[in-house]
Amino acid sequence: MATHKLLLLPGDGIGPEVMAEVKRLIDWLDAQGIAHFTTEPGLVGGSAYDASQQSITDATMAMAMAADAVIFGAVGGPKWDSVPYDARPEAGLLRLRKDMALFANLRPAVCYPALADASSLKREVVEGLDIMIVRELTGGVYFGEPKTITDLGNGQKRAIDTQVYDTYEIERIARVAFDLARKRRNKLTSMEKRNVMKSGVLWNEVVTQVHAREYKDVQLEHQLADSGGMNLVKWPKQFDVIVTDNLFGDMLSDIAAMLTGSLGMLPSASLGEIDVKTKKRRSLFEPVHGSAPDIAGTGAANPIAMIASFGMALRYSFDMGELADKLDAAIAAVLAKGLRTADIKSEGTIAVNTTEMGEAILKELQALHA
Ligand SMILES: NC(=O)c1ccc[n+]([C@@H]2O[C@H](COP(=O)([O-])OP(=O)(O)OC[C@H]3O[C@@H](n4cnc5c(N)ncnc54)[C@H](O)[C@@H]3O)[C@@H](O)[C@H]2O)c1
Repeated sequence: MATHKLLLLPGDGIGPEVMAEVKRLIDWLDAQGIAHFTTEPGLVGGSAYDASQQSITDATMAMAMAADAVIFGAVGGPKWDSVPYDARPEAGLLRLRKDMALFANLRPAVCYPALADASSLKREVVEGLDIMIVRELTGGVYFGEPKTITDLGNGQKRAIDTQVYDTYEIERIARVAFDLARKRRNKLTSMEKRNVMKSGVLWNEVVTQVHAREYKDVQLEHQLADSGGMNLVKWPKQFDVIVTDNLFGDMLSDIAAMLTGSLGMLPSASLGEIDVKTKKRRSLFEPVHGSAPDIAGTGAANPIAMIASFGMALRYSFDMGELADKLDAAIAAVLAKGLRTADIKSEGTIAVNTTEMGEAILKELQALHA
């Protein structure tokens, strides 16, 4: 059985607390011989700044480049509000994404039946929801040049951001999304604004061509990103996989996130290109939430987003879909039994802390594996 090399970067605030629950799982999988991992710890964000005056060192970056997957907690907090801009905690995460060329961001939005009432939408709209948003992460308007604010000299200023996409960028993100759709319910919805944006025209054209050339078996539909947003709230279960650019993906994935209730429930994956020689791809898995300084150290953090992020690593980096399914089932079972951390608590449920939630999920996984 292959041994997979993981770099664990817990970060700041609740990051180390939720990462400890992933470590518990890894140690059990390893001890049982179900999967073999070697883990290396590293510093990122504020904790790295305290140790080295940098948000991530070159040495840690080299470990990330050599790892089979990076498991990331969260960074930031008021303690580091006044550190130099280049050394701010978030810079460590941005460097990881950039140097590892992680162009595909996968954000699943799954609504566990036990939590359907935590959503702001009606139970029948969200219960059983399982969609995946694939956001292009390294291109588009957040990075396009020119990106300037110019003083026009007449009391006015002009701000320019540039939305730019090349064919290859759209092709590679489309392939990630089509491949995912094939493994799910075989439907892909591409979202852009071809009615008003040239980049939308090209996006639509390229996704259509990739479909015709390589993925005819997948059902493809196109929606304008604005009405797509409306449909996400109106009837989200019409979607399976959604692919969209960096800006629209940023907004649409946050909308989708809220369908499911709490930030503490949302995992994510960021993937790079497949290496032609090794057939492996760089990857980083992290919860969507931040370091939650308001609850750090209190045991109130929900570890599910972090644990489900590790589940995505099993599925997308190590081809252990069956084990990932079991882990998802273990999370669902714990929720169905009524165990809740403070962020998802409702009347008649059983309050647990971070460790108790992590232990309960492991216990369910052990039972499913027996
Ligand atoms: N990827 C990242 O590392 C990342 C992402 C977002 C924010 N941040 C940083 O985190 C810090 C705090 O930012 P914020 O407060 O805007 O966002 P946040 O996600 O840390 O917290 C928002 C709210 O959600 C709660 N929350 C978040 N995760 C939770 C969990 N697992 N369990 C229970 N409750 C949870 C928090 O207690 C808080 O009330 C800032 O320094 C910010 O820059 C980092």
